[in-house]
Amino acid sequence: MRKSTDPKKTHELVRKAYGEVARKQSSCGCGPSCCGSTPQAVSEGDLGLSCGDPVAFSQLKPGDAVLDLGSGAGKDVFLAARQVGASGRVIGVDMTPEMLALARRNQEKLGLGNVEFRKGTIEELPLEDASVDIVISNCVINLSPDKPKVFREAFRVLRPGGRLVVSDIVLQKPLPPKLKADQGLYAACIAGALLRKDYLRAVRDAGFPEPEILSDRLYQASSVQGDPVTGDAAGALAGAAASITILARKPR
Ligand SMILES: C[S@@+](CC[C@H](N)C(=O)[O-])C[C@H]1O[C@@H](n2cnc3c(N)ncnc32)[C@H](O)[C@@H]1O
Repeated sequence: MRKSTDPKKTHELVRKAYGEVARKQSSCGCGPSCCGSTPQAVSEGDLGLSCGDPVAFSQLKPGDAVLDLGSGAGKDVFLAARQVGASGRVIGVDMTPEMLALARRNQEKLGLGNVEFRKGTIEELPLEDASVDIVISNCVINLSPDKPKVFREAFRVLRPGGRLVVSDIVLQKPLPPKLKADQGLYAACIAGALLRKDYLRAVRDAGFPEPEILSDRLYQASSVQGDPVTGDAAGALAGAAASITILARKPR
């Protein structure tokens, strides 16, 4: 089905898709990769819908204040919470009520007190200016209808000298218009992705002088919402997307 260009409708499409993902994860009490284990056995590794590992590149230290954009079931929030310890804190922001409920249930199971999940959009963050040391995000910004605004918001909430560490999908070549407008492919983190140069330009334009690429690998979508990608779509998508992790600093 064709995706609307209205930003509100894009949010609705994404909320619906990830509400459904959260319901499926909840019904087995854990992530899609762990349905054989018990709900009590939840671990950070079971909860991801990720395309990288921003926490591994973040060099977090005890006492840091961290924000995760589009925190989903909470995987990266929980990994970060262990590293920043009791003197630090981690806030996850997500707009999908079912994901927030799942993340809060997971937090309870893990017994982490230095974690908070807030409802909101990453285009209008529910945080004060200059209030966090590190902003992370994992496979989310491609889903935003206004990516430049997301980077401006990340810049606003970071303290001077703070860092942005983001794993995300970028395109290596333009997609055919039919695929670019495909709702399923948008929710699957492909159709909304920017070309790599446009992504890096949006980061720079938000005020981060020199974004660095820390990891870079081909990203192959083999299925969209459970259906295998075949035929012309498979051809057009071959080599079209990459998963990158970037580091950018807010000047002091
Ligand atoms: C692909 S999942 C990634 C979740 C998590 N970062 C992870 O790696 O497991 C995308 C998440 O971002 C959230 N999301 C997408 N667009 C958003 C937006 N504009 N504002 C807030 N949350 C958003 C969705 O609700 C969903 O939970």
